[in-house]
Amino acid sequence: MFEEGLRLKAIHGEYNVYDYTLGNPYVDPPEAFFQALEQVVGDRKRLAHAYMQNSGLPATRERIAAELARETGRPYTVNHVVMTVGAAGAMNVALKSLLEPGDEVLVIAPYFPEYAFYIQNHGGVKVTTQAGDDFLPRLDDLDRCIGPRTRALIVNSPCNPSGRVFPAEVLAGIAELLRRKNVEFGRTIYLLSDEPYRRLVFDGMRSTSPSLYYEHTLIGTSHSKDLSLAGERIGFLAISPDAEDAGELFAAATFCNRILGYVNAPALMQRVLQVVSSFDPPVAVYQAKRDRLFQGLTDIGYDVHRPEGTFFMFPKSPLQDDRAFVDVLRRHRVLVTPGAGFEFPGYFRLSFAVDDVIIENSLPAFAEALRETK
Ligand SMILES: Cc1ncc(COP(=O)(O)O)c(C=O)c1O
Repeated sequence: MFEEGLRLKAIHGEYNVYDYTLGNPYVDPPEAFFQALEQVVGDRKRLAHAYMQNSGLPATRERIAAELARETGRPYTVNHVVMTVGAAGAMNVALKSLLEPGDEVLVIAPYFPEYAFYIQNHGGVKVTTQAGDDFLPRLDDLDRCIGPRTRALIVNSPCNPSGRVFPAEVLAGIAELLRRKNVEFGRTIYLLSDEPYRRLVFDGMRSTSPSLYYEHTLIGTSHSKDLSLAGERIGFLAISPDAEDAGELFAAATFCNRILGYVNAPALMQRVLQVVSSFDPPVAVYQAKRDRLFQGLTDIGYDVHRPEGTFFMFPKSPLQDDRAFVDVLRRHRVLVTPGAGFEFPGYFRLSFAVDDVIIENSLPAFAEALRETK
C-alpha cells in the first residue's frame, strides 16, 4: 500500500490520493520535547552516550516507576521498569521472557497484525479469539480458547485498528476469567497490555489499564504516538509489582533486551524523558479529525463505530469481501487497509492521522465507491 500510495501520488499529485493506510503520527512533538532535547544535547556529561544497564538509565526508570505508582497505587520501583526500543521492543522482550516453545498466546481479533510475528519470533503459537461486532472481547469465546498451554493474553486498549477503549467491566471480567483458569490449569497466564495509545483518548474519557484489575500484567508502551516520537524508538516494559515472579521477570526482560540485539533503548531519548515530565498529548487535533471523518462517512451511509481513542477508524465494508471493497476504493484513489489483515474480515481500517484537506477531498470518493456497490 505504501508503494502504491507513492506511485499514485506521483501520477495524480499528493492531495489527489487519499492515503489512509499509514500509522505515523500527524503532529510534531510538543515544544517541551524540543526544549528537553536541546538541554540534553548541550549537556557534556562524561560517558553520557556509552552503554548502560541493559534495563536502561536508573533515573529514567525511577521517573516512570513513580508515575506508574502514582497512577495505579501499586509499589512500582526501578526494578519493575525496563526501557525498550518502542512498544514493539517491549512486546518482543516480554514474549521472549515468558514463552517456552509451543506456549500459546491469545490475541483478540481485530488486532495489530505484527503480534502474529512477535509471537512466532519466540516460539509461541498464536490463538485467536474473536471480538463481537462492538469490537470488545467476548468472555465466552476467551474462555473456550484458554487451555493448558496458554501462557499469555495480549490486550490492546485503546485498540488499533478499532479505536475502542475497553471499559473497566470488560477488564474486570477478563481478570476474573484468567484467575479462574490459573487455578484450573495450575499455572499463571500473564496479561500483556500493549498501551501505546493510552493517552490518545477522546471526549475527556480516560483509558484504564488492565494492570489495575489483574496482578500478573506486563505493560508494553512507548512515546511513539503521544509524543509523536515513532522514529526515535523509545518505550518501556513495566512488570506489575504484584505479578508472580516479578523479580525473575525483570531479570529475564533485562537479559532479553540485550540478547535480542537491542542491548538498551537509545540513551539520548532516555535522558530526554528525564526532563520532559509533563506534556499534553495531541488529543484535540486527532479528535477534530475523527469528528469530521466520522460525520462525513456516516452522512454518506457508512456503518462506523465512533472511535474513543487512537487515530484509527474501522468502518464496516459495504461488500462482504473487504478486499474487494478496498479495490473499489483504490480505483477512487482512496487507500485503506482491509479488515482481513487484522483477522477481522468485513471491515476496513482508516488512519485519520492525515491532513484535513485529505479528509474533505476524499468524501466524494467514498460516496462514489459506496454507490458502486449498490
Ligand atoms: C497496537 C500497536 N502496538 C505496538 C505498536 C508499535 O509501537 P512502537 O512504534 O512504539 O514500537 C504499534 C505501532 O503502530 C501499534 O499500533
